[in-house]
Amino acid sequence: MNANVEILSDAVALANRAAQLISAQAISVNNRFIIALSGGSTPKRLYELMADPNAEYRKQLPWQKMHFFWSDERPVGPGDSESNYRMANEAMLSRVLVPEENVHRILGEKSSAQEAAAAYESQLRSFFELANDELPRLDLVLLGMGADGHTASIFPGSEVLQEKQRLVAAPWVEKLHTYRITMTLPVLNNASNVLFLVSGDDKAAILNEVINGERGRFPAQSIYPSNGSLTWLLDEAAGSKLPSN
Ligand code: 6PG
Repeated sequence: MNANVEILSDAVALANRAAQLISAQAISVNNRFIIALSGGSTPKRLYELMADPNAEYRKQLPWQKMHFFWSDERPVGPGDSESNYRMANEAMLSRVLVPEENVHRILGEKSSAQEAAAAYESQLRSFFELANDELPRLDLVLLGMGADGHTASIFPGSEVLQEKQRLVAAPWVEKLHTYRITMTLPVLNNASNVLFLVSGDDKAAILNEVINGERGRFPAQSIYPSNGSLTWLLDEAAGSKLPSN
């Protein structure tokens, strides 16, 4: 896998390194910086750090020109404890001066996950002013990885792995007995930069498989930007099974 892998001492160092990379990228672009946020628990510390008035990033980040999308969401409303939007809003977006119209959340409260996926696809198409066969190109996509090798809401064995047309899908996730709403691989792999944040020793074994193992076994292995950078930021616990250089 042609990727940049960085191992940081712990979850705090991981969040700091991620905030550093995001700030550098956001500052470097001229007009707007378009980022897709990931959900789950790992990025929460990063979001809090980016909005922390006592840390350097909040002052550096060009909030006015940053646009926030989500790589996936649960089929719930913005106030639900399961909502990826709610987590990012409470940890960061509600604490900084980002224009409301720059926050493009997935409407998980729609009557069906399929409807939410279709609505988000048309939101992406209109925001990026896409022609029919065109893909959106996000400046940065944040991703996490589950202990089963899933990323965004693309789980092992999911039909989404074969999706070539749609930008957003609503797969049924048997092991969670729920639908999820997720950006598809063509969108994720069309980003300028993809940044994985992985923390904790429960991910160590799978991480070594994903990065060094046989290809095509885990959804996270299907993330390799066609014309962009791929970076894995790990804490020592998550990276503990990677062969040392
Ligand atoms: C979600 C995420 C998902 C997450 C992984 C890792 O909505 O749950 O987008 O892909 O990144 O499950 O989750 P943790 O960070 O909680 O381990």
